[in-house]
Amino acid sequence: MRESGGARYRIRPGGSLKGTLTVPGDKSISHRALMLGALAEGDTHISGFLAGEDCLATARALQGLGVHIEGPRDTQVQVRGVGAHGLAAPRAPLDMGNAGTAMRLMMGLLAPQRFDSTLIGDESLMRRPMERVAVPLQMMGARIHTHQGRPPVEIRGTPHLRAIHYRLPVASAQVKSAILLAGLAASGRTHLTEPAPSRDHTERMLGAFGVQLSHEGRAIAMEGGQTLHGTRVAVPADFSSAAFFLVAGCLAADRPLTLVNVGVNPTRTGLIELLRRMGADIRLHPRAAPGGPHLEPVADIEVHRSALHGITVPEALIATSIDEFPVFFIAAACASGETLVRGALELRVKESDRLAAMAAGLDQLGVEHQLLPDGLWIRGAEALTGGTIDSCGDHRIAMAFAVAALRARAPIEIRDVANVATSFPGFVGTARAAGLDLEAL
Ligand code: S3P
Repeated sequence: MRESGGARYRIRPGGSLKGTLTVPGDKSISHRALMLGALAEGDTHISGFLAGEDCLATARALQGLGVHIEGPRDTQVQVRGVGAHGLAAPRAPLDMGNAGTAMRLMMGLLAPQRFDSTLIGDESLMRRPMERVAVPLQMMGARIHTHQGRPPVEIRGTPHLRAIHYRLPVASAQVKSAILLAGLAASGRTHLTEPAPSRDHTERMLGAFGVQLSHEGRAIAMEGGQTLHGTRVAVPADFSSAAFFLVAGCLAADRPLTLVNVGVNPTRTGLIELLRRMGADIRLHPRAAPGGPHLEPVADIEVHRSALHGITVPEALIATSIDEFPVFFIAAACASGETLVRGALELRVKESDRLAAMAAGLDQLGVEHQLLPDGLWIRGAEALTGGTIDSCGDHRIAMAFAVAALRARAPIEIRDVANVATSFPGFVGTARAAGLDLEAL
């Protein structure tokens, strides 16, 4: 059985929160630390690694490419880098499980190899769009075949890729990162421009591995052929996992709730700005990053119970809060007044169609809402009814509706929660310790 325990959650209504919580390591940063560590000369030591199913899929795929990886032991992982030309042909298709980030970044990493490879995943991943990565890689000379834009992704290794100038059509860190990974092995200088700033973990981490990269506004440039040098990576707690408790704290913290050592990279923390605009009292206490290069800003986050009111979400804040919309919609459902999100089409191609999945769940809980092609309108309610929610196999939908129980009148049951283990192993224990009356069935 997966660590999140069972296939359903039942949460009794009400409850209050307080205390100090630690959530697991950052998923985006853990994936990147493994991949860059594999391509580096020398060893990389990762601490704070997220031992969730998604990152374990990346570790297994790299092992399938001949990389020696020790751990995770507690949260420590040691990667023996094989260098830019040291990966070996896999014996079988590489199974990326539920991990979209892993599949898309691996496309960039595998395109310039001397061998062929195939990427597959679980039912949800096999439905997700991969052309957004395949197209720019093909412009670099890569030979990649998808099936109507979806996995399996078949890659014919092409060691002589050419750098490109590329304007990303969507703000996507996965697309940007795949091009940068391929660009490392390409001849010439890769230039990228983003329509809005997406998470910049790859750029920061490339710097920590000794790669020179230049930024000018939303433009990034990187010379191909640079060597990565193994290093120490201290992964902070995942802001996206902390997000569930930030909203829970706003709704029901008796006394302040503190989340410890959380990554607060400004390309990730749009939710703090959104909640503050709704009236939330959230305070950041910056920390020095533990050990190693100061890769990412880290803070303890203190949240106080706050009376929230609805807002219109500025489109400029969508990319920096993209993974937090499921729980943001719960905040909106519990706020006074109306909340409107538009321009969030990307939510339809995440682990589930998150606009549709949230609308269906809000329906079950008696929350007035309107599903829009690219967003959601919600009128906040005094209290939610209980009900049964289908998470659609999406970890963030499952955890978001667990938070909703704090304001429900009757129990909430959430189906299909096994995938919580992809990003938040131990969620049940942490949620219970925080004060949610949650049972895994
Ligand atoms: C991620 C980028 C985002 C995000 C995903 C993780 C990453 O996806 O939604 O959960 O680690 O690069 P997009 O790049 O598609 O926006």
